[in-house]
Amino acid sequence: MTKDPNAFGLWDGEVTADLPKDFDAGLYFIGRIHTPWKERKDCPKNARESEAVCTIEVDERWAPALKDIESCSHLVVLYWMDRSRRDIVLQVPRHYGVQRGTFSLRSPARPNPIALSVVRLLKIEGATLSVVGLDCLDGTPLVDLKPYFASTDAVPEAVVGWHKTRQG
Ligand SMILES: C[S@@+](CC[C@H](N)C(=O)[O-])C[C@H]1O[C@@H](n2cnc3c(N)ncnc32)[C@H](O)[C@@H]1O
Repeated sequence: MTKDPNAFGLWDGEVTADLPKDFDAGLYFIGRIHTPWKERKDCPKNARESEAVCTIEVDERWAPALKDIESCSHLVVLYWMDRSRRDIVLQVPRHYGVQRGTFSLRSPARPNPIALSVVRLLKIEGATLSVVGLDCLDGTPLVDLKPYFASTDAVPEAVVGWHKTRQG
């Protein structure tokens, strides 16, 4: 499978922007995520679609930063969608077939292809976490881990209008 993000073409109705010449910041990948999925078509479309147990391997350098994480039932996982285009501003998600702005979507194609999922932490052995609730390809780079606070992160009344009323 290709790792070139631009190998993925555009659908009818999709629009790109010219990317800036330089990056504004750098980041450190802190580990890798291992999942059963080798091809994008096999990935769950979102993190609630699969009960597959996935593993998050944190680099040894950052292992001390895992202290106390075993006390968390759920974590926010941020990861880098390394096989996504970064230049699409208007996209036509295949399963909806309607043109929408990138920032109104959870698509991996975005200027900074950062994905997030709230996962259930099953166990931690050394610097390896077993979790349920991911939707990414095997080998996806890990950007960050944070505790999920139901008290402040959950917004039960939140609405995505286009999704609620969608035709396609
Ligand atoms: C719709 S995104 C949602 C990601 C995340 N849960 C979020 O909401 O930010 C999930 C899809 O991204 C695609 N994907 C998974 N891993 C990827 C990777 N490493 N690079 C590019 N696309 C990826 C797959 O098609 C998968 O179904």
